[in-house]
Amino acid sequence: MVKKKACIFISGSGTNLRSIIKNTRDYNFPINIKLIISNKKNAKGIGYAKKYSIPYKIISNKKQEFEQSAIKYVNSKKIELICLAGFMRILSKNFIRNYKGKILNIHPSLLPKFKGLDTFRRVLKSKEKFTGCTVHFVDEKLDNGKIVLKKRISIDKSFNEKKLKRNVQVEEYKAYSEAIRKIYRSS
Ligand code: GRF
Repeated sequence: MVKKKACIFISGSGTNLRSIIKNTRDYNFPINIKLIISNKKNAKGIGYAKKYSIPYKIISNKKQEFEQSAIKYVNSKKIELICLAGFMRILSKNFIRNYKGKILNIHPSLLPKFKGLDTFRRVLKSKEKFTGCTVHFVDEKLDNGKIVLKKRISIDKSFNEKKLKRNVQVEEYKAYSEAIRKIYRSS
């Protein structure tokens, strides 16, 4: 099997990145990570790029320059899939159009519910009985593109934000790689 070339965009702790890296070691996993791009120079996730010897770029410029550089690197590595994993910057319509159908994101709610930031606090405040995470294609609207898969968890009275985040993230680690397998199974 010829694995697709992927690039992961991060801004923070990179725990989703770590779980995808682990899955890429599986012979049958459909992607290889050829590049990691961080828009934050102190992102903890960069440590995983180093640990697993994956090429990485830190591009901590303003939006337009960030995107110009990112496009250059992504194209030079012939990247076929971009995975946003805790990437905390909104990409321009131009960038998204450029890679239409090739950008995935993970969001910590059951979309279309709770788009945007501060998800866990809002979920608790609205006394949801369930929440979860969603892997979706990125389109020009925030947290909006075609959904690949969702994973659900139930919430009880013992949940605070920290516990909610921890429980949702356990599902995220499974969801992202499952979504990647699903996309290439059905293509
Ligand atoms: C995840 O909860 C993801 O849903 C959101 O940002 C968080 C990233 O965490 N988009 P990490 O950087 O993968 O640890």
